Amino acid sequence: MRTLLTAALAVTLTLPCLRAAVPDIVPRPVSVAEQAGAKPFTLAWGQTVGGDARFAGEMETLRQTLFPATGIWLKPAEANPTFAFVHDATLPKEGYALTVAEGKVEIRASEPAGAFYAIQTIRQLFPADIYRKAPVRGTWTMPAVTIKDAPRYAWRGIMLDPCRNFFGVASLKRQLDAMAAHKLNVLHWHLTDDQGWRIEIKKYPRLTEIGAARPSTPRPFNRLKQDGEPVPPQFYTQEEIREVVAYAAKLHITIVPEIEMPGHAVAAIRAYPELACAANPDLTPNWGVLKEIFCAGNPKTYELLEGVLDEVVALFPGAYVHIGGDEAPKTRWNACPKCQAKMKALGCKNMHELQTKFAEHFAAYLAKKGRNCIGWDEILEGGLPKGAAIMSWRGTSAGVKAAKAGHKVVMTPKPVCYIDYNQLVPNDPYEYIPNNTPNPIWITYSIDPSEGLPPEAQPFVLGLQGNLWAEYIRADEDCDWKMWPRAAAIAEIGWTPQADRKWEDFHGRMSRAGMARLQRLGLNAAPLTEPPKDK
Ligand code: ACM
Ligand code: ZN
Repeated sequence: MRTLLTAALAVTLTLPCLRAAVPDIVPRPVSVAEQAGAKPFTLAWGQTVGGDARFAGEMETLRQTLFPATGIWLKPAEANPTFAFVHDATLPKEGYALTVAEGKVEIRASEPAGAFYAIQTIRQLFPADIYRKAPVRGTWTMPAVTIKDAPRYAWRGIMLDPCRNFFGVASLKRQLDAMAAHKLNVLHWHLTDDQGWRIEIKKYPRLTEIGAARPSTPRPFNRLKQDGEPVPPQFYTQEEIREVVAYAAKLHITIVPEIEMPGHAVAAIRAYPELACAANPDLTPNWGVLKEIFCAGNPKTYELLEGVLDEVVALFPGAYVHIGGDEAPKTRWNACPKCQAKMKALGCKNMHELQTKFAEHFAAYLAKKGRNCIGWDEILEGGLPKGAAIMSWRGTSAGVKAAKAGHKVVMTPKPVCYIDYNQLVPNDPYEYIPNNTPNPIWITYSIDPSEGLPPEAQPFVLGLQGNLWAEYIRADEDCDWKMWPRAAAIAEIGWTPQADRKWEDFHGRMSRAGMARLQRLGLNAAPLTEPPKDK
């Protein structure tokens, strides 16, 4: 039986006045020390920002971050600034040390990314209204704390899919803003698929003239029923892509572009039917896994995809390019004389080995251009592809196998990392792919990306990623709903040491502050749910 004292203690521990001691920061920092008895910091007119010139961009970011809600514009100051940026080469890449005291904030980092993450933490130390885009009346205080922080993983990603249902640059920017606020740092941009080719390629304009238009869409919510309504081309121009890349860079988010091959290629094959194995390919853009794939025995396939990759690497400065590789049925390859001949010429025993060789070809092509290649885990069905990193999606076993063999790996297993799957929100008004295993947020939160790996293989796990496929996403509001708050769980898994992660603690921080922040960011986030009590 609970005594009166323990009941009183339980109540006291939930009182807001004590909360400042352990700020509700998401993702949870590595270490937070309260400065006992110290007065809080209060933001005020006349305060200043300055410090090491290496952080000039972050100083500007801080001013622009604090201004919209508070109306306070920090002035630059060389001597004794209120917000001081200090270079500290001892801190890890992306790490930071933050000290908040009365009238003084010190941000230490070795690189701008770390200073940027300190700013995101500062934002979360203020009331959630700091995220509003218009002025709010308020007293802007932060508790006096010392925080030392750095991420667990280098790859903390979200995949977005504009192929199934297109969304424009403005939609992308809102998600990039929200991702950065949670210290997510990779956007995997799935730019090509059966239902739409979304990236302008100057050398092959038909890819968007034909491939970005849709003769018909699977509707209503039925994979095999088409609405018969043509949609004009929808795609990102190269100018728009440069704009998004630059926008993301300021948020320390790297964009990994994906060009799907050899499967999920119907949009490209509609533009260039000669790249199919069959003379009369079935180009109906149904959802699901379609049998038409790029012919691996046709030199024109390699010529086109190399031409595409030339323009991709010129647009995207990041280290990785994704070459797809998932769900490529071998029906057409098996029946194609050109593919059969290629298989024999390469000494492959089966079509899985041919797919691995196909991936290796593009891995080598990208390597010549100084880029790394990553592909979905099917690319290792015919043996581990030389020079390619693996995105483990059909579970974690492919990722574990690849990491043990010294390949870089990103863990994104379904259902836990599939944030398009049903999240078990009561009376959910949005639709999901039918019959998928539900993936509520507490299941997402449960993954440890390095589980099952011996210590020597763990460094090969780059990190994790949440995937938001868009068959059932029609507008920003559906995207917000499915992505948030689950993307906050992905962010914390990617950032916080495994031993410090507890569902109840995450749930507490999210319910006290994290959900309010999502709302102030203007996101139509789904409600935060909990596991059933009998679990
Ligand atoms: C995938 O979900 N097809 C990678
Ligand atoms: Zn073929």
